[in-house]
Amino acid sequence: MPSQMTRIAMARHPEGDPVAEDFSLERGAMPEPAEGEILVEVTLLSLDPYMRGRMAPVKSYAPSLSVGDTMTGQGVGRVISSKADGFAEGDLVTGMTGWASHAVLKGNEARKLDSDLPPSTALGVLGMPGFTAWTGLKKYGRPKAGETLVVAAATGPVGAMVGQLAKSQGLRTVAIAGGPEKCRIATETFGFDAAIDHRAHDAASLRKALEEAAPDGIDIYWENVGGKVLEAVLPLMNVHGRIPLCGTIAWYSGSDDIADGLPTVWRSILTKRLSVNGLIIFDHWDGFPDFLREVTPKVAADQITWLEDVAEGLENAPAAFMAMLKGGNTGKQIVKLS
Ligand SMILES: NC(=O)c1ccc[n+]([C@@H]2O[C@H](COP(=O)([O-])OP(=O)(O)OC[C@H]3O[C@@H](n4cnc5c(N)ncnc54)[C@H](OP(=O)(O)O)[C@@H]3O)[C@@H](O)[C@H]2O)c1
Repeated sequence: MPSQMTRIAMARHPEGDPVAEDFSLERGAMPEPAEGEILVEVTLLSLDPYMRGRMAPVKSYAPSLSVGDTMTGQGVGRVISSKADGFAEGDLVTGMTGWASHAVLKGNEARKLDSDLPPSTALGVLGMPGFTAWTGLKKYGRPKAGETLVVAAATGPVGAMVGQLAKSQGLRTVAIAGGPEKCRIATETFGFDAAIDHRAHDAASLRKALEEAAPDGIDIYWENVGGKVLEAVLPLMNVHGRIPLCGTIAWYSGSDDIADGLPTVWRSILTKRLSVNGLIIFDHWDGFPDFLREVTPKVAADQITWLEDVAEGLENAPAAFMAMLKGGNTGKQIVKLS
């Protein structure tokens, strides 16, 4: 076993979009598991938009990182030493490893992976993002056949799952994605009925494009991004429409580009009698076993598909993360550790 481990720490709180100087590569002594813990050699790391929120020194639903802390994140890896019941050397597990080559996890906070599917699926389609989509669509989207759903970041792990689940329940699905290639993937790979490139439009022309793609109006707007997409969608919402509010990535680094402003948003919710539900997946973990039971066979049978974007090497995690926040990823962003 090596005597040293490496990790990526937050070197300072970003101002606006994160830059390379906000991260540092640190080396340290290999941690030792205590009673009830396992030591894991990390092989795959998940990069997720929520990590930008953790880097901000503000009170939120989860504590923010302090300078010097290891970047938060879920990983997959092999147990290389175990002092926890039920885990043995060589077991493949997933848990909150952070951006690190090795991590000590409590046995009760790690999950063994024993499916035949690729282990990376535990970070995307069969992990937190897929579970978020499944939960929010059912609880807050309340889809009905014949309705129309719109989702942005449509080729990412949340959007792609939302689109595929809605389509399988008989909805018309409209993707919003960044660039013609992602729009092609949205329709050809994920089965969306239409796809619109948000980068080719301002809010007004995006609204026109949406009017054509959703001629009967929008019943469910799955909110991943905020910004001009929200501005374009709101006037097209049908009465009693639903908005599962999952993320607002357009605003994560502080930009505030919605022209119409709060009174318009608030008035739309009133006049259209919209149901807007904030969704934080941590509130719903007790449903995770049901999700796996229902969705794993569909993934195994290719009824639900997924895409991954794999960066190589822990040292490249910051660059991959910064790119993902700007749409540089196509599919679930993973880092493969060497
Ligand atoms: N509430 C929860 O519990 C929860 C859980 C998981 C995820 N989320 C949220 O769900 C959303 C999607 O997550 P994910 O993991 O599936 O991410 P993802 O799609 O893999 O990556 C983020 C994507 O957001 C899009 N994007 C970035 N800036 C944008 C902008 N200004 N306007 C429109 N699109 C923009 C980009 O796609 P394009 O290139 O296609 O624009 C980018 O690839 C995020 O907001 C995330 O924070 C919330």
